[in-house]
Amino acid sequence: MDALELLHQRRSMGKLAGPVPSAEQLEALYRAALRAPDHKEMTPYRFIEISGAGLERLGELFAQSDRRANPHIDEGSLAAARKKPLRAPMIIAVIASITPDQPKVPPVEQIISAGCAGHAMLYAAFAQGLGAMWRTGTYAHDKGVWRDLGLGQHEELIGYLYLGQPGGRYPSAPARDPADFVERWR
Ligand SMILES: Cc1cc2nc3c(=O)[nH]c(=O)nc-3n(C[C@H](O)[C@H](O)[C@H](O)COP(=O)(O)O)c2cc1C
Repeated sequence: MDALELLHQRRSMGKLAGPVPSAEQLEALYRAALRAPDHKEMTPYRFIEISGAGLERLGELFAQSDRRANPHIDEGSLAAARKKPLRAPMIIAVIASITPDQPKVPPVEQIISAGCAGHAMLYAAFAQGLGAMWRTGTYAHDKGVWRDLGLGQHEELIGYLYLGQPGGRYPSAPARDPADFVERWR
């Protein structure tokens, strides 16, 4: 696929099926991530690759998160939370690993860099015929989940990339006109 075609056509895919991406496909994903723009070459990111029983473990963390938020939550809702990660054969948690007190590279720049790494993985997935979707929601923002995933004091979970084989049709791309977003100074 031509590079510009990829940039213009990439779409997310929420419906995902097995099998898990191959080792070669994953290597290509991570190599794309590691090319994210990165002020002072801080590589401020890391990834947790979750599949198989790992997805059930993650579902348990989601259920625990819901229980902390609502101690009276019913069993049906907990079961639904446990199932959430099973929507894909693989999830890659994208973590921003921030070096604090870096005067030239404030935390926001490091988080942007980690976000670019995640975005690059979406492109690398699409280019290889894989489906991918970036998801967040309460389980991405709950610091209890961060702790249970083993995040350090200066780390932030910025998203879960759901990955697999595309299980449906891609929706047509929204029609957007660059002119609506660009101001030109000449
Ligand atoms: C940081 C971030 C968090 C997101 N979280 C969610 C989410 O929790 N649930 C969801 O349905 N879409 C979420 N999205 C949006 C989808 O990943 C996707 O971009 C959107 O459905 C549009 O599809 P497209 O990427 O094909 O344009 C998120 C996107 C970003 C960048």
